[in-house]
Amino acid sequence: MTKGLLDIEALARPEIESLLERAKYFQPLQQMRDKRLELHVGRLVVNLFFESSTRTRISFEIAARRLGADAVSISSQGSSVSKGETLLDTVSTLSAMRPDAIVMRHAASGAPHFLARHLPIPIINAGDGQHEHPTQALLDARTILDNRPSLEGLRVAIIGDILHSRVARSNIHLLSKFGVDLVLCGPAPLVPQELKHMAPGVTITHDIREALRETDIIMMLRVQLERQNETSFPAGEYSRFYGLRADNLALAKPDAIVMHPGPMNRGREISTEVADSSRSVILSQVENGIAVRMAVLEKVLQ
Ligand code: NCD
Repeated sequence: MTKGLLDIEALARPEIESLLERAKYFQPLQQMRDKRLELHVGRLVVNLFFESSTRTRISFEIAARRLGADAVSISSQGSSVSKGETLLDTVSTLSAMRPDAIVMRHAASGAPHFLARHLPIPIINAGDGQHEHPTQALLDARTILDNRPSLEGLRVAIIGDILHSRVARSNIHLLSKFGVDLVLCGPAPLVPQELKHMAPGVTITHDIREALRETDIIMMLRVQLERQNETSFPAGEYSRFYGLRADNLALAKPDAIVMHPGPMNRGREISTEVADSSRSVILSQVENGIAVRMAVLEKVLQ
């Protein structure tokens, strides 16, 4: 990682390992009374969100502050983006205010890569269209490693709308670099066969029971209706075939953990019973997001 963090695909395994180790160092801080370190006092992180976000934006903001840096957040609603300014002009304007890093989320795949080519400032990708969401994959890996000694040889099922999911893409790149056995599952239009060529170790099934059988880790995904033109499956039908419930969760390993990047659609891809069960690590994912983003920001601010 020379400048910012644009995607997982371009990261080498040792770079991922060092970010995950550093995140582990920051984890206990989240439980302490005084959560702020004075490591990067006077540095400025600007969060620029052109798409809705709750956990990612707040998490980056908190992470920057816990490193001692200042953080400001701007969303496209209420900024001059809604007055027709181009992306490059908006970001050049912000760069003139001399931030030390820009965290950005954008609906267009490749938007952060485009800016990184045109601006001298480090850009951290907080989700670009359906392409990548690198810090989500890092926090997911941190959460898995809190529950398993290593990633090697694990069986991970990613279930839902893989086609439109930047979370799935970043996770596929990361997990395949660590020798994970990856099963992608969902309705055929949302899990096309080409995806199996994305990385080594990827297989595809459209049968959730097959995906869940003997699996160690289950990652459920939301159906991303905002990225689909066609009306998708009726909610009831989707949950019947691709929803995770106590009855099909029983097919997984007895100690399998259930993950979801959020926001969840309860009753659609995941039942409330499962989401709130002891098998769910969904809130640990959120908590780990801060430690992981501290590690990423620290690397970029150095
Ligand atoms: C995801 C996203 O925005 O890509 N959410 C997140 O960042 N935790 C997934 C989603 O929107 O379904």
